[in-house]
Formats: sequence, structure tokens, C-alpha cells
Amino acid sequence: MVTGPRQEAGDSPGPQGGKDTRTGHALTTPDNNGPEGAAWPVTTWQGWRHFAATPPPQPPAPGQPLRSTEERLAYHSAFVTVRTPFIDTLTNSVRTLMILGQHQQTTARPSLIVTGPAAAGKTTALLHTGRACHLAHTRQHPPHGHSAHPQVPVAYVLVPPAASAKTLATEFARYLAIPVTTRMTQAQITDAVCHTYNQIGVRLILIDEIHRLNPRTTTGAETADLLKDLTERIRATFVYAGIDVTTTALFSGARGAQLAGRASLVECGAFPARLGKREPFRELITGLEAAFDLQAHRPGTLPRLAPHLHQRTAGRIGSLTRLIRQAAITDGTERITKTSLDAIRLDHQAEQHHRPTPTRPPPHR
Ligand SMILES: Nc1ncnc2c1ncn2[C@@H]1O[C@H](COP(=O)(O)OP(=O)(O)OP(=O)(O)O)[C@@H](O)[C@H]1O
Ligand SMILES: [Mg+2]
Repeated sequence: MVTGPRQEAGDSPGPQGGKDTRTGHALTTPDNNGPEGAAWPVTTWQGWRHFAATPPPQPPAPGQPLRSTEERLAYHSAFVTVRTPFIDTLTNSVRTLMILGQHQQTTARPSLIVTGPAAAGKTTALLHTGRACHLAHTRQHPPHGHSAHPQVPVAYVLVPPAASAKTLATEFARYLAIPVTTRMTQAQITDAVCHTYNQIGVRLILIDEIHRLNPRTTTGAETADLLKDLTERIRATFVYAGIDVTTTALFSGARGAQLAGRASLVECGAFPARLGKREPFRELITGLEAAFDLQAHRPGTLPRLAPHLHQRTAGRIGSLTRLIRQAAITDGTERITKTSLDAIRLDHQAEQHHRPTPTRPPPHR
């Protein structure tokens, strides 16, 4: 069942900082819960902390005064994250793996791979899970003003395009602002990364866009080896996400076997119209509709259009949210109808899927 949007309690860690005792790297992380944290990408600790500690957008509470048009536009633009069954599965699986790997010291902990088609909600689920872990950790370990290091329970790293082992190691360094100079070798960067991540106590590492790795190329193979090295040297649980990774080279060959042998797979697919007696896609639409802040919208309109919307979007949450959010803001009618939905052109992928099969012209006589 899809549950509606939820707000987690925001934490409010105070400013703290520290110094890496071995490398002398500055680990100071200023308090970025203020607006300045928003200027940092989520692939840096400052940006991550801002993201994790900022309460997600919320639909209007019953009886709440009407928000202005600008406020509602901003709300529909940012929009809520609906708790989907996949988000629940991922969050539970990650929590279990973290407990399982907690006291494993010598070899790599079991990891998780999120796989699925483009725009299926992989990144959204990954970020939601990371935020839940961050908030749980900061609740259990309230920050002390005098602690030697900032608390960084979660790291979020993107595999860069055409990643080499060095550029990926540099991404890990960038997240914690570990200084990297052009003269440093990959081994030196990796050493600094492993040392600092362990010293700070990062417990969960989320690596997105993993499909960019191709272990069949020399560079890709070295990068895959680096990942394996990191999983063995950093005492954290690793979660990877990428597009249809089971069908890519990531899972083939000796390196693929090493990865696949340690990782369980979580499939983030399209929402089926029917699953036994349930209708997952209609449930998703019901959850999304409840989150809109429109004055003239008739509740129940969108779930009734579920078969039509499923056909248009192929059950992909990315195409669906784009379609209905766009319909909510385009014509100023403050309601979403089949007419307003039909007036919107979707992403290329969805349009290709929806395009009716061309009918042959009648043969000339
Ligand atoms: N649980 C959710 N609640 C509300 N909207 C969602 C949810 N999951 C995904 N979306 C919407 O779908 C869009 C695509 O999601 P996301 O970027 O997470 O997909 P992805 O699988 O990571 O895509 P890609 O493969 O291109 O990286 C997002 O912009 C967001 O608007
Ligand atoms: Mg993504």
C-alpha cells in the first residue's frame, strides 16, 4: 500500500568541527542547516546535512489557512516524496544490512544494489533511506559541542561520467572536503579517504549512477576494483543504485562475480496496474492526489483515470509525477482533469511508449 507523504522530525546539530589527527585535514563543517547549506550539492557533507535536516515539503494540514499562489507553485515544484512500497522495502533492507554488518571487521560487509529502469524513483528512494538513517543516528547520538569530529553517518556519492579509479576516489574525498592535490596518487587519495571515513564513523555509503561503470574497459575495471577495496577498508554498509545494472557488464566476469556475490538486489520497477487483488498504480495515484494543494480539484478524479494514466506513463513514477504536477500548474483552473492531462506532452520515453501503433493506409486500388 502506498502511504501518503510523511514528515520526519528535523534534527538540529549545532556547529562542530574537528581535525584529522593523522593527515591534519580540516574536517570543520560549519552549521549548514541555515539557507547557506542549500548552496552545496547533496554530494557534499554540507549539502547532505542541509537536505537531511530540512523537513520535506508538506501538503496543507486540514484547517490551515490558504497558501498564496506563489507558495503553492513552489510547493508543487518541489513536491512531496510519497512513501511507496519500494521505499519501505529499501529502508528496511538497509537497516537490516547495517545491523548485520555492524561488527564485521575483516571483510566487506554485505551490500545492496538498487536496479531498475530510468526515472523509476531509484535516487528518490536512496535519498529517503539515507535521510532516515541520518535522522535516526543523530537522534540516538545527539551532537556534543566539544566532540572532536562532526557526525557524518551517511555519505552520498555519484559515480562521475567516464569514471576512473582516481576520479571516483576524488568524489569520495570531495564529500568530506578531504584536500586532494593533483600530485596525489590514487593510492594516496584512497588512503586518506579510508582513514577519514573510518575516523569520522561514516556508517552508510550511497553510491548512485553505478551503471556508469563498465568493468570491461581497463579504466572501468580499475574503478570496480577501487570500489571493492573501499568496501573492505571502510567500516560502512554500501548501497549502489543504477539503471538496469543486472543486464550490464557490472555483473559479469570475475569482478562482477565479486560484486554480485556480496550484494543483494532490490528491484525498483514500474508500478503494475494489478498485483493479485491489489492495484498498486491506482494506490500510488491516490497517494499523490492527496498531496496536491489545489482549490477546485475534485478528489477521486485521478484514481478514476488510473487505466488511462498507466497507459500513458507505463507505470513509471517519474513520468506520472511530471504529468500531474505539470497539469496542476499550467492552466490556472486549480484542478486536474483528463482534458488538462491530455494537453501535456510527456517525456520522450513515455510518449514513445504511448504512441498508438500506426495503422496502415488502405491499399490503393
Ligand atoms: N516516492 C516518490 N514520490 C514522489 N515523487 C517521486 C517519488 N519517486 C520518484 N518521484 C519522482 O520521479 C522523478 C524521477 O525519480 P528519480 O530521479 O528518483 O528516478 P531514478 O530512477 O533515479 O532516475 P534515473 O535512472 O534517471 O537516475 C523524480 O523527479 C520525482 O519527481
Ligand atoms: Mg537517479
